[in-house]
Amino acid sequence: MINNMLGQNIKVGAIDGEDSGQLRPQKCILTVEQLSAWYGNRMAIQDISMGIGAQHITALIGPSGCGKSTFIRCLNRMHEVSEGGRVTGRVFMDGQDIYAPQIDAVAVRRRIGMVFQKASVFPTMSIFGNVASGISLTRFWSRRRDLHDVVERSLKKAALWEEVKDKLDQPGASLSGGQQQRLCIARAIAIEPEIILMDEPCSALDPISTLRIEELMLELKRDYTVVIVTHNMQQAARVSDWTGFMLLGQLIEYARTKEVFTVPKDKRTEDYITGRFG
Ligand SMILES: Nc1ncnc2c1ncn2[C@@H]1O[C@H](COP(=O)(O)OP(=O)(O)OP(=O)(O)O)[C@@H](O)[C@H]1O
Ligand SMILES: [Mg+2]
Repeated sequence: MINNMLGQNIKVGAIDGEDSGQLRPQKCILTVEQLSAWYGNRMAIQDISMGIGAQHITALIGPSGCGKSTFIRCLNRMHEVSEGGRVTGRVFMDGQDIYAPQIDAVAVRRRIGMVFQKASVFPTMSIFGNVASGISLTRFWSRRRDLHDVVERSLKKAALWEEVKDKLDQPGASLSGGQQQRLCIARAIAIEPEIILMDEPCSALDPISTLRIEELMLELKRDYTVVIVTHNMQQAARVSDWTGFMLLGQLIEYARTKEVFTVPKDKRTEDYITGRFG
């Protein structure tokens, strides 16, 4: 109920980016302004401003510890759940500040879902249950059939349906790592978010499963906005539309992926993508 009310507060549909030049995509679903985040007294990210393109794949790259995970966790208000987690600055989703006092963080997380580095399936819960677990908490299902339809649709979108349709009652742990990661994506999709944040979703996967997830991201882009953190330069170059390079908590460069990887403006970006440091 609260979710619904808050959902209405935040209007759906992308807005135009403020800068029509090279600084940000033209249609941004998220606009981040001067975002900083702390763990206790320690600042982890500093003064980040950027626009996340609607129905784009945005990649965030940078050396370990530079603040990528912290940053994306600020985008769906998960950072504040960390011990000592504090955020300043603003994040607008379709013109509404998700950090405004009247906005419920849970409602934000419904609109901006997350997939983690390690597939976080509930191992003993069934495949069906894993996908249904997010939605059944947030909605009242009058008919089990409706729930089944949503689970089927989500598994299809996550390109897992064909592999699991005959064993939906088997435990999540019975799937391979790559399948488990797609199961997590299905669970995120089932909540019907508009944006999916993925924090190194392929780091534990073999090259075939990785390509599978990449194809899936490109599919998802038709309906969703995807933000992905990756250490894999090829992956960022292959799938993303825009790339942000972070270093020591700052966003050093943010531009179209093509530009970042072919004509980086900052020497530090160039050094990183050519493997000279990090
Ligand atoms: N829960 C936490 N408590 C305190 N400090 C943290 C916590 N999580 C991260 N940090 C610190 O914040 C900084 C940014 O960490 P973050 O996890 O965002 O980096 P990252 O770019 O995602 O790194 P990686 O590529 O290794 O995942 C680091 O210096 C890290 O030590
Ligand atoms: Mg991280």
